[in-house]
Amino acid sequence: MRIGILTGGGDCPGLNGVIRGVVTKGIKEYGYEFVGFRDGWKGPLEALTMPLDLATVKPILAKGGTILGSSRTNPFKMENGVERIKQNLADQGIDVLIAIGGEDTLGVATKLDALGVKVIGVPKTIDNDLNNTDFTFGFDTSVNIAMEAIDRLHTTAESHHRPLIVEVMGRHAGWIALHSGIAGDAACILIPEVKFSVDKVCEYVKSRFETGTAPIIVIAEGAIPQDGDMITKDQPLDAFGHVQLSGIGDWLAAEIETKTGYQTRCTVLGHIQRGGTPSAFDRVLSSRFGLEAITAVHEGDFGKMMALHGTTIARVPLASATDVLKTVPIERYEEITSFFG
Ligand code: F6P
Repeated sequence: MRIGILTGGGDCPGLNGVIRGVVTKGIKEYGYEFVGFRDGWKGPLEALTMPLDLATVKPILAKGGTILGSSRTNPFKMENGVERIKQNLADQGIDVLIAIGGEDTLGVATKLDALGVKVIGVPKTIDNDLNNTDFTFGFDTSVNIAMEAIDRLHTTAESHHRPLIVEVMGRHAGWIALHSGIAGDAACILIPEVKFSVDKVCEYVKSRFETGTAPIIVIAEGAIPQDGDMITKDQPLDAFGHVQLSGIGDWLAAEIETKTGYQTRCTVLGHIQRGGTPSAFDRVLSSRFGLEAITAVHEGDFGKMMALHGTTIARVPLASATDVLKTVPIERYEEITSFFG
């Protein structure tokens, strides 16, 4: 069997762990051949390939990013996109395609599956917003990066008696903010799922100062004020129709400064959260996903996505991962508000 692999969407720690798991087991146990498609869906669209063998994947587990490259190319927005992909897969002699990606990449995989292409999906995203899996790989690493940044900011906040705001990624889901904010002992955590009141945030700021420490506020890039809108960058939508987020942290800093008189600063963590070596959790999860993905190929179980259910690696229908965004349930948010202030 000849198998193609691609990584699409935003890069994410752990992508190389999946590639290594798939290729290692596929060659050692099943004698399969592999072709790497470069730069997400651009690879099969334009026949951009690279060889993938044991020597290539051996040293990559601890490496961030993706050795295959990535892009946000959407073949359904290109002329004859699907036909070109089908033709290039046939020309390369590809029997099955393994797509490693988030809602956009797996959304394309789901549509191709319905059109008769044999595909298997593996869920990646720092945002942790794919449905039907408890966690995506990459999330744990980004939470740890954000937590370390918050730990460092606590010392500066206390030295200068300033509220400091940390704006984290996550798009329309508040998972990164929620987990890094709990781990970093934030004075309040603001997520897209629950509109926030600036006055309430100012109360938390004041009460944290009253305890003798300085407040850190963790805000998700997609958070929305009660009487305002989500803040987006003045940039064109990407090929999947997403706005570019960022700016809400600076907006809130100005509001807090005006309302409380405390000099307030904002740090936007941005792509730092996606870079660098994966955590141990993400190395293990991505490796297990890769091993199970190639087992699914061997068993002919196509149209499935690997998923983490508890501690078990399960296979779920591809469509069930992208039909609805996995956002933070309100009760998960409410249970931690005792820590606020
Ligand atoms: O989906 C991952 C993510 O990092 C989001 O958290 C963020 O909103 C977006 O990608 C940023 O995309 P880009 O790298 O294209 O600016």
